[in-house]
Amino acid sequence: MGDMAMAGTKTFPPGIGMTTTMAPFIEEARSHGEVYIEQPYDLYSEENHEAWRRLYARLLPKWEKYANEHFLKGIGNLCLDPERVPRLADVNQFLNPLTGFRAKAVSGYVPAYQFFDCLRQRDFPTTITVRHLDKLDYLPEPDIFHDIAGHVPMHTDKAFADTLVRFGECARTAAEVAQAIPDEDERVHRVTSVIKAMARFFWFTIEFGLMRDSGGKGLKVYGSGLLSSEGEIEHCVESPLVQRYPAQMEWIVNQYFEIDHYQPLLFVVDSFDHLFSLVDELEVWMKDGRLANVAPGEPHVNEEDLKSFLHATVG
Ligand SMILES: [Fe+2]
Repeated sequence: MGDMAMAGTKTFPPGIGMTTTMAPFIEEARSHGEVYIEQPYDLYSEENHEAWRRLYARLLPKWEKYANEHFLKGIGNLCLDPERVPRLADVNQFLNPLTGFRAKAVSGYVPAYQFFDCLRQRDFPTTITVRHLDKLDYLPEPDIFHDIAGHVPMHTDKAFADTLVRFGECARTAAEVAQAIPDEDERVHRVTSVIKAMARFFWFTIEFGLMRDSGGKGLKVYGSGLLSSEGEIEHCVESPLVQRYPAQMEWIVNQYFEIDHYQPLLFVVDSFDHLFSLVDELEVWMKDGRLANVAPGEPHVNEEDLKSFLHATVG
């Protein structure tokens, strides 16, 4: 990209900043309805790079202690620069030959069906903004550190990558099942419940999952929400206040969660092959109608997510 980066019709000067909720480039892209975008690398400010540098330096020793072995191998394979916000093109050069996955820049929220369908196609919708330097510890929305340092190293692992693709296939099945229901109220009720179940499953595995380590005794972290949080990565393994149980489908899909504090309840898988088999099970439950009435409560399924499933092209 040249000196000026463009979104829609506007241009922005280099170094203007790509800070979460404060990035004019992103606001402009969203105002034009552009979801999949280029990463305007020249717009990152020195403050953005400093935020990345501090986060990486804080997390590195925690990853070495608490992260699962596949993540650690992935961090090595991606050759991330500890000092600078990564270029997605560089990340993809290392990632793509390993599993076919690619980090794909987005301007923010992607409706649920489109998000899962990207996974099915081995594209990972990736936030490109950076959290503010004053808010390094907690941010409700994803940023590039969460997405690239927390998620993408896991995508270098074949078994994990295949699990994400399987999850995307499940979303397709959910849309097919829903669209075949003739009665509209019933269709909306069913798909709302299925989206809730999928969101809970994704949350308690991909975002906040724990895994038995290969020796079978201790626990290691593989969930990206944990891997990108300096405080919670330690808390989730060490704190006696956290309940940790073997992953159980009937519990996970009926368990509400809240996003604004450390998770009090986490689920443990044995391996990524185990996780893959759970996603298979999720799809069987979906087809059998066992996700049609999951327990109410968080997360809320918004109108856009609902529509994305009801109007998905699945043919
Ligand atoms: Fe995430």
